Amino acid sequence: MPPNLCTLLFLLATTVSTCGSIGVNWGTTASHPLPPAKVVELLKSNNVTKVKLFDADPGVLGALSGSKLSVTVGIPNAFLKFLNSSKKAAESWVHDNVTRYVSNGGGGVGVKIE
Ligand SMILES: *[C@@H]1O[C@H](CO)[C@@H](O)[C@H](O)[C@H]1NC(C)=O
Ligand SMILES: *[C@@H]1O[C@H](CO)[C@@H](O)[C@H](O)[C@H]1NC(C)=O
Ligand SMILES: *[C@@H]1O[C@H](CO)[C@@H](O)[C@H](O)[C@H]1NC(C)=O
Repeated sequence: MPPNLCTLLFLLATTVSTCGSIGVNWGTTASHPLPPAKVVELLKSNNVTKVKLFDADPGVLGALSGSKLSVTVGIPNAFLKFLNSSKKAAESWVHDNVTRYVSNGGGGVGVKIE
């Protein structure tokens, strides 16, 4: 089996299917992570429409820009306490790590964050 297919099968092991769309949990902790652009390519060629991230990895979000995949961004446990410390802390985390990737009005260039 080609290595890329192995990786994809691993990703798909946590697949959730709702209303005919395919969603995948995308973790970046792997011994041989694929380049994010390659993963996006594999997801698209397998008709995956939704992806859940466990953190706001800039490389991953950059690769998802313009992809039309619906993205859910998770917050690593280590950040929870900090984000709960104040509204301002949470807002600046979102501003720094999420807002700049959000698509602005469907120009197709940003990330479709749900
Ligand atoms: C993805 O969807 C297209 C169009 O519906 C279909 O032709 C293709 O076989 C699908 N690919 C996979 C891997 O399911
Ligand atoms: C978040 O902050 C509130 C208010 O300070 C506190 O009551 C709550 O226990 C905190 N939750 C977590 C998960 O730290
Ligand atoms: C997100 O933003 C905070 C500062 O607001 C920064 O400390 C953190 O490293 C950033 N990156 C990620 C991936 O969360």
